[in-house]
Amino acid sequence: MQERNHQGEFLEFRFSRPVLGLGLKALIFWYFWIKPKVHEVLLKGSEDMEKLTADYWEDRYRGGYTGWDLGHASSAMRHIIDQLDDKNLKILIPGAGNGYEATYLNNRGFKNVFLLDWAAAPLEAFQKENPDFPKKQLLHQDFFLMSGSFDLILEQTFFCALNPVLRPDYVKKMSEILNKNGFIRGVLFRVPLYEDRPPFGGSAEEYRDLFEELFDILLLQDCIMSEPDRLGMEVEFSFQKRS
Ligand SMILES: C[S@@+](CC[C@H](N)C(=O)[O-])C[C@H]1O[C@@H](n2cnc3c(N)ncnc32)[C@H](O)[C@@H]1O
Repeated sequence: MQERNHQGEFLEFRFSRPVLGLGLKALIFWYFWIKPKVHEVLLKGSEDMEKLTADYWEDRYRGGYTGWDLGHASSAMRHIIDQLDDKNLKILIPGAGNGYEATYLNNRGFKNVFLLDWAAAPLEAFQKENPDFPKKQLLHQDFFLMSGSFDLILEQTFFCALNPVLRPDYVKKMSEILNKNGFIRGVLFRVPLYEDRPPFGGSAEEYRDLFEELFDILLLQDCIMSEPDRLGMEVEFSFQKRS
């Protein structure tokens, strides 16, 4: 009996040692291999956000990875611009990229138009296409560090290119650089889109909440003038700086 006991304990010991060893190996495997990988995946989103630098955008232009670029002024923006009468308006297009809307404005006699982008490549391309456009109206800088005073700011695919944590700063900066009763007009995506890389989406309700403290919401509605591949995905808006 005693012997059987002895053997039993022995067998138990022999059985539990490999199990323990296996458990230990699994723990080491989890700690040094799986956990870092999981962490990496979880962090990927925020790392991608950190990559949204001027260099990131510059590389995209220089490499030709510009899926957002329509190659012409969008129908939605042309529709907005066509409603403008005052050719003396001082207009800013931030995150202008290749600036097709600026070309459109310029060709229609708006001469007080400024393009801003922190990537040099699209501004150079714009200058090449529009050799007579005043160089001093091409602002190669970070939007959040700019100063100035404008009557109208035109928004298209700049807001959605920014890390969403910057949205409150975007609203503040817009208010800061607009003249008294100045406007921001344009289009914004009204669908969620991506969470870890541009374009970042949103909803009309979200935008109302975000802007209404500093702006009067004059227009915020589904855009019917969108380009075919953006139809149903955009809202057209007109917000006036609250005095
Ligand atoms: C998606 S692209 C849109 C370009 C243009 N609006 C269009 O519709 O083709 C976003 C642009 O915003 C610019 N951008 C992003 N963050 C910026 C910042 N903080 N200051 C200035 N430009 C910025 C990028 O360089 C890029 O040209």
